[in-house]
Parts: sequence; structure tokens; C-alpha cells
Amino acid sequence: RHLATATIQRNPAFSTLNSDDINHFKGILGDKNVIEDEDTLLFANTDWMRKYKGSSKLLLQPRTTQEVSEVLKYCNSRRLAVVPQGGNTGLVGGSVPVFDEVIINVGSMKQVISFDKVSGVLVCEAGCILENLVCFLDNQGFIMPLDLGAKGSCQIGGNVSTNAGGLRLVRYGSLHGTVLGIEAVLANGDVLDMLGTLRKDNTGYDLKHLFIGSEGSLGIVTKVSILTPPKLSSVNLAFLACKDYSSCQKLLFEAKRRLGEILSAFEFLDNESLNLALNHLEGVRNPLPPAMHNFYVLIETTGSDESYDKEKLEAFLLRSMEDGLISDGVIAQDINQASSFWRIREGVPEALMKAGAVYKYDLSLPVETMYNLVEEMRTILGNSAKVIGYGHLGDGNLHLNISTPQYDDVILAQIEPFVYEWTSKQRGSISAEHGLGLMKANKIFYSKSHETVQLMASIKKLMDPNGILNPYKVLPYSIVSYS
Ligand code: FAD
Ligand code: MLT
Ligand code: ZN
Repeated sequence: RHLATATIQRNPAFSTLNSDDINHFKGILGDKNVIEDEDTLLFANTDWMRKYKGSSKLLLQPRTTQEVSEVLKYCNSRRLAVVPQGGNTGLVGGSVPVFDEVIINVGSMKQVISFDKVSGVLVCEAGCILENLVCFLDNQGFIMPLDLGAKGSCQIGGNVSTNAGGLRLVRYGSLHGTVLGIEAVLANGDVLDMLGTLRKDNTGYDLKHLFIGSEGSLGIVTKVSILTPPKLSSVNLAFLACKDYSSCQKLLFEAKRRLGEILSAFEFLDNESLNLALNHLEGVRNPLPPAMHNFYVLIETTGSDESYDKEKLEAFLLRSMEDGLISDGVIAQDINQASSFWRIREGVPEALMKAGAVYKYDLSLPVETMYNLVEEMRTILGNSAKVIGYGHLGDGNLHLNISTPQYDDVILAQIEPFVYEWTSKQRGSISAEHGLGLMKANKIFYSKSHETVQLMASIKKLMDPNGILNPYKVLPYSIVSYS
């Protein structure tokens, strides 16, 4: 078990699974959707980072909202704790059990329910894999408003539950804006139909927002309605080198003004991140001639006029070179080259995993001071670790990662609470997009006031009085007390 969880005790109010329970679930779901197979459970008990590991003996795969409802109703009456799981690509230990919680995965609920070509509203089941939705929409001439490296495995229900950000947020905004409706099942089995498809609906509290980013702690998301943008004909991607962080920042400032409506991504990685990708990912090579640059920026534009967009980007890049903001750069000549550029940026998390142990922080910080944290961390850790910084610069989101050969308590004590205190002093967020999960449940006060957390705890108790939904996650365990 991860060191951070070693101190948590299993809530004694929860029941332990018995053979009657298993038979009951088989009655609801059929034998083959009640999984006790050890290999499948090993995967479902272990998170993507292989850092958090539960000991659940049961994985349930409901196929309909009604089945989710019956399962939860039973679990609630028996006080069996559950973990909603999607593609299990979460990075904060939220998607796997801490102890023996029953895992519920809606991956079999993967139908597109409707798509309206006029409004661009897609309604689908929560188990749809993001990449499958991308393919479906591509055929219709649309795109998903979110894109992330885990698209091949993550489910839209998981994306909504984590309020995933990703590479396109700078253009299309967060899921709080693009998700128009949700169907969710509460802990007691009640089904909340909030599956609206309207852009505007001011009839009372907009409760769907409670489920966006609540990491499976308030209900299981079963259906989602989402606004999708049209697929535009001209997409360009530039891979650029900058001599220092200040140039990256100025480039962002200029890109927002000069590329304006066509800017669709602004990502950065430092030289250490690039080296990790080059050293650990197969087939990845530096698109730029060998030279020492400290930072790299990917700028994507998406628009409707090929020659105008390209001219605009080229003029911007030329000017930025003349102004000394860019030291070198290349524009992808075709879709394959563009994918190879994205592979570098999207591959950094995978490269980190291959390099050894990773301490991963996902912070919202003022762009001006963001990179100081990486440098301060390097000074503190010296040669004992590699400190790397990359992320969604256009959104003010730094991914600070510390790579070491193996996990080490001494190193952890040098990183935490320093990183959280530093972020809090800047009034930043200790979770920009990955969530709190198990990793940061107890750290919430670095970013939220006591009053706010108390209200969150009251909402949690109201919606899940027995605390069966994803226990020990999101909120400090001491605040959500159960009996
Ligand atoms: P899981 O990992 O299975 O679950 C995540 C959380 O959501 C858990 O708390 C779980 O209980 C809950 N949950 C899952 N499904 C449901 C449901 N149907 N109902 C209720 N609760 C549910 N995140 C970003 O924000 N931006 C990125 O750019 C990004 N890039 C990534 C790149 C890689 C390579 C990896 C591995 C991860 C990345 N992530 C990113 C993190 C992660 O992929 C996303 O947070 C994703 O949205 C999780 O979806 P999932 O289906 O895998 O959910
Ligand atoms: C990313 O932007 O690559 C993801 O959020 C994953 C990560 O930070 O490691
Ligand atoms: Zn990210």
C-alpha cells in the first residue's frame, strides 16, 4: 500500500462481502457481469501509476441505469462500500479501492444515444471510451471538446467525474461549460434524470455541476449530454523552442492576442521533460535540430480557412522569432507529423512511469511565477531526483513531476508539504485537473476554506448518508464521520 494511505483504517461500519451478496448481484446482473476472477481484479485494484492498490474481491459490470440503481440500492442497504471505476486512468488514487470496496464499472454502457447535427449535442452512456466518441463524431464532422493522452482508455463518465481538462480547454473551456446534462444514480439507488440538452436552463440549482468533478463520491454517472464543436478544416501545429521561461510566457501573451480565435492549444514542456520522452518512448525523436533549448511549446491553431490560418500562424511565428521569443521551430507538414509532435507532449506521463517512481503534482498557479516552483524544487532536491515541469500553460496549469529510482520517504518529506504550502501562498489550486482522490483528500484545506469544506461534507452526508460511495477519497476522512 502507498505510504500516504498506511494510516487510514477501514471504516468498521462497512459490511464485508459474503456469498449471499454475490448471489444477489448475480440475480441483478447475471453471472458473467459479476467478476471474481483474480487477474481481472488485480488490474481493477491497481491504479495507472501502480502506486495505489486495493484488495477488492468483486467487480460489477452493470449494463443499464436500472441495474446500477438496483446494485447501489442493495449496497446501501447492506452498507457495502463501492468504488465507481471508469478506464482506471486517474492519477490520484481515486479509481481503485483502498480496502475491499466493491468496484462498479459502467464500461458495458457504451452506446451513443443520440446526436443532433444542428446543435452538436451528443447524448451517450457514461461507459463510452473517449476515443470511440472522437471516432463517432469524426464521421459526423464534429470533435469532442476535450482531448487527453488517456483517450484510448478513459470513459466519458470518468472524464465528467474528474472534470478532466486536457489539451483543448484553452479553446473550448471546462466540462462545467460543455456538459449540458447528466443522468446519475445516487447511493440509495434513486436515479436523477438531469439529462438536458439545452444550452440555457435557469430553473433552480444546476445540480449536474455537483457530479462534474466529484470523483464518484456523490453518485454514479450513467449518461452524459455534451456540446461538441464542429470539426474545422484547417488544423496546424507548431513545435517551438524557447530559451527561457519568460519567453514562453510572453509567447502565450502574444498568441492569445495575435492568433486569437484560431488558437486551440498552448502546451509547454521543459528540456528535462523532452529528454525523458526521447529516452523512454519508442520511436520518439526531437523534431528540431540538436541544440540546447530550455523549453518547448506546442501551439495548435484550428480554423476554417486553410490559407488564412496558415498565413496567420506563420506571420506570428516569424514575428516571435524576430522578437527573440522563439529560438527555433517547425510546423507539422501533415497529420502524421502533427501526431508525432503530440506524442512527445502526451507521452511525458508514460515516459515518467518508465523512468521509475513518480511524485506527481497538478497545480493551478499564476503563469508568471509557476516555473519558480520547479526551480526551487530542484534546489531543494539537488541530485537526488529529476524535477520536471510541463503542462497546459494556456490554462495556468503546471504538472510538476519528481522522478526518482524508487519511492523514498526522505524525498517525500522534502517535497510535501513544501509544494502544497507554496501553491497555497500563491492562492493556487493543489489540483488543477486530476482531482483529489485518495492522494490529496487530506490536503483540501490548502485550496479551500474550512467553511467551504464543511458545506461539501454536508452535501456528501445528505446525498450519501452511509458514506458508501468512494470512501476515504476527496474529503478528509475526519470531516465526513460515519457511524
Ligand atoms: P477513472 O480513472 O476510472 O476514475 C477517475 C475518478 O472518477 C474516480 O474517482 C472514479 O471513482 C470516478 N468515476 C469514474 N467513472 C465514474 C462514473 N461513471 N460515475 C462516477 N464516478 C466515476 N486528466 C486531465 O484532466 N487532463 C489530462 O490532460 C490528462 N491526461 C492524462 C494522460 C494520461 C496518460 C493519463 C494516464 C491520465 C491523464 N489524465 C488527465 C487523468 C485521467 O485520465 C482523467 O482524469 C480521466 O478523466 C479519468 O477517466 P477514467 O474513465 O479513466 O476514470
Ligand atoms: C497531462 O497533461 O499530460 C496529464 O494531465 C497527465 C500528467 O500530468 O501526467
Ligand atoms: Zn494535464
